[in-house]
Amino acid sequence: MSTATTTTNPVAALFAWLWFQILTFVHSGWMFVPWVRPHWHLENMADQRDRVVVITGGNSGTGYATASAYYTRGARVLLLCRSAERAATAVADLKRGGVANVLSQMEYSPVDDKHAGTVEYIPCDLGDLHSVHEAARMIAERVDRVDVLFANAGVLGMSGHTKQGYPLQFGTNVLGHQRLISLLLPLLRKPRPRPARVISIASAAHITAPPGGVDYAALDKGATRDALLEYGESKWGNVALAKYVHAHYGPTCEDGVCSVPAPGEIFSIAVHPGIVSTNLFMHFQTAKWLSHTLTWALKLVMSTASIGSLNQIWAAEVADSAARELSGGYVWCFQERGIERADLVGAAGAQAGDKLWTWCEAQAARQE
Ligand SMILES: NC(=O)c1ccc[n+]([C@@H]2O[C@H](COP(=O)([O-])OP(=O)(O)OC[C@H]3O[C@@H](n4cnc5c(N)ncnc54)[C@H](OP(=O)(O)O)[C@@H]3O)[C@@H](O)[C@H]2O)c1
Repeated sequence: MSTATTTTNPVAALFAWLWFQILTFVHSGWMFVPWVRPHWHLENMADQRDRVVVITGGNSGTGYATASAYYTRGARVLLLCRSAERAATAVADLKRGGVANVLSQMEYSPVDDKHAGTVEYIPCDLGDLHSVHEAARMIAERVDRVDVLFANAGVLGMSGHTKQGYPLQFGTNVLGHQRLISLLLPLLRKPRPRPARVISIASAAHITAPPGGVDYAALDKGATRDALLEYGESKWGNVALAKYVHAHYGPTCEDGVCSVPAPGEIFSIAVHPGIVSTNLFMHFQTAKWLSHTLTWALKLVMSTASIGSLNQIWAAEVADSAARELSGGYVWCFQERGIERADLVGAAGAQAGDKLWTWCEAQAARQE
């Protein structure tokens, strides 16, 4: 599918742009759009025994819900979190069968111990490249392969800088995740019957990124800009990272026909989770107030974290034949291949991914 924004006719270009905005809005996962609903549920999820699943930000929101789905089906779940205290609470909640409701309050139902897997905490602050390096080292010490990596953690609308001085949102959402993916490549590419998957949690908000996607000049200066523009830039970066991993380690597809599995192949998919009621917005006073006073309105707009996690779990669990074709793509609500902004489609997307990956690798080299 194409956004057709490359047309030279200005009227056609305007209509193509408008159509893209409408489609993006409809597929954002608003609960008041009744015909956009999940059509894949956890009942369809296979047994996960013997699977190793790494989740960044697994202590909250969609990351926690993802951890719960894998843990209760027998996987070995590695939670990468920046706070030991919040990680310990999450591990205890997972073991008690905690599920967050739309107000992000835990409701508990017993876990079937016979089917449950294991869950471990690995300290990882994505806003500190040294911490990411240490986390990757600890993972390699504990497991000999990674089956699914959910690059899930994120911050929205927060200003400030990471430990190494990068704007906080880009530094956390993109640079930290790029480092982690890069360091985990040997474990992701270990030969196995089913190729590994890297699921990058992006957002429909990637369409608000600045022209060209990433303002490298601003990043190089460590300059902060409008917080929501920076968020869009970071989510655009998450899609571009998924494109890079696909282009360099994913299956080769031509005219919709994808090659047979190759050794070390990774399926890399970017995902928008929906409009999800999580802690992501809770540093905005208005969001906090709305969630406490207008709960009915919240339910009209937002889904629970369990629903919000379905897109990413589906992308990790859909049959290999479908994942092979989905690799390098972007999934919007719900369980549908979506349309990325035009500067991420086709050759432009591949180039954007290469440029971003190279820039991130250069930042890591500066820290060594
Ligand atoms: N909620 C939505 O409507 C929505 C829509 C589109 C995309 N997304 C994306 O979905 C992903 C998950 O967000 P969510 O909605 O589940 O929000 P959330 O409940 O706030 O979860 C975010 C997770 O990221 C972790 N995190 C933040 N900074 C980190 C750092 N420096 N190092 C390690 N972990 C860090 C948080 O840890 P702490 O608990 O320690 O803060 C938390 O576990 C994000 O990438 C977000 O951009 C969400």
